[in-house]
Amino acid sequence: MPVINRIADFAEEMTAWRRHLHAHPELQFECHQTAAFVAEQLRGFGVDEIHEGIATTGVIAIIEGRGAGPTIGLRADMDALPIVEQTGAPHASTIPGRMHACGHDGHTTMLLGAAKYLAETRNFAGRVALIFQPAEEGGGGAEVMVKEGVLDRFEIAEVYALHNAPGVPVGSFYTTPGPIMAAVDTFHIDITGRGGHGAMPHETADPIVAAVGMVNAIQTIVSRNHYAQDDLVVSVTQIHTGTADNIVPDTAYVNGTVRTFKREVQGMVMARLEQIVEGHAAAYGVEAELRYEVGYPATINDPDRTAFAADVAREISADVTDDAGREMGAEDFAYMLEKRPGSYLFVGNGNTAGLHHPGFDFDDEAAPAGASFFARLVERALPLN
Ligand code: NI
Repeated sequence: MPVINRIADFAEEMTAWRRHLHAHPELQFECHQTAAFVAEQLRGFGVDEIHEGIATTGVIAIIEGRGAGPTIGLRADMDALPIVEQTGAPHASTIPGRMHACGHDGHTTMLLGAAKYLAETRNFAGRVALIFQPAEEGGGGAEVMVKEGVLDRFEIAEVYALHNAPGVPVGSFYTTPGPIMAAVDTFHIDITGRGGHGAMPHETADPIVAAVGMVNAIQTIVSRNHYAQDDLVVSVTQIHTGTADNIVPDTAYVNGTVRTFKREVQGMVMARLEQIVEGHAAAYGVEAELRYEVGYPATINDPDRTAFAADVAREISADVTDDAGREMGAEDFAYMLEKRPGSYLFVGNGNTAGLHHPGFDFDDEAAPAGASFFARLVERALPLN
């Protein structure tokens, strides 16, 4: 069975929702219009409960099946990115400097499509909690929802989510059991030296030399301190300092990202960064302060639920990979998977620009596949007798 027939019937309606959302992107927790649009659609579908204002602008809706049973949580993220859109599409962003460049407009649409079908048909025993979340792109909306206690409040037993994937065929699926997305941390190094004339460096304590020394030493964390068969990325992504060719500046700022899967690897990186920053500060006669921000944890798929979800995906598509391996990107759905078993899967978005690129657009052909996946997952996880 490919896409569910009833969902294919309203594919054009889904495209209209998706393009409306795409034209009106909102950032982080400020998803006010998006949440209002989602709630309005859900009311039209006749879902049983709608809870607004969860984690500021999140929406949770409940659909009751035809009999008693557990509650399955299905999650979509709703937020956009601070990027100037360059798709030239007729439905391009109407808000300068904001764009749905990660396809969360499509994720919201897929979950709305599943909601419409499930509210109409209700061929399941139990309940569905539709979780529409703000602030995936920084802010950790999923963590806020977990801290607000939504998993307990709505008695959610399992959780599932989809993310689109450029570069793989539209409507295909892939996932992997166990770790699928990395933990993400951020480090900041503030270096304070003593500036002066570029011609008299002996009278200065040069923060640039110290910064460059630190950046070079940081490269050895992966190459010299780390066991080669574990996954680790340490990337320095910003250095800011200086104003002119004849001035040694007072200060320098170094920033970067750390991606890990294991707590002990994360701990090793934190310790080595401390040593490198302290050691270089002493060696170069500057002051340096390291700030290490622990971010989203690793996203860990439950192996049994992932095998089940991949099997559901095989009903929708002949192209399903259930052992795709892990990626070094990050995802705040990790916070929900820390508390409940479930699975995170990707749905193919075809040959589009990459995620977070100004030319990216969600492919509307993928939406019926994603909606059908969510709908069949509920029908199979909560079968009617
Ligand atoms: Ni995303």
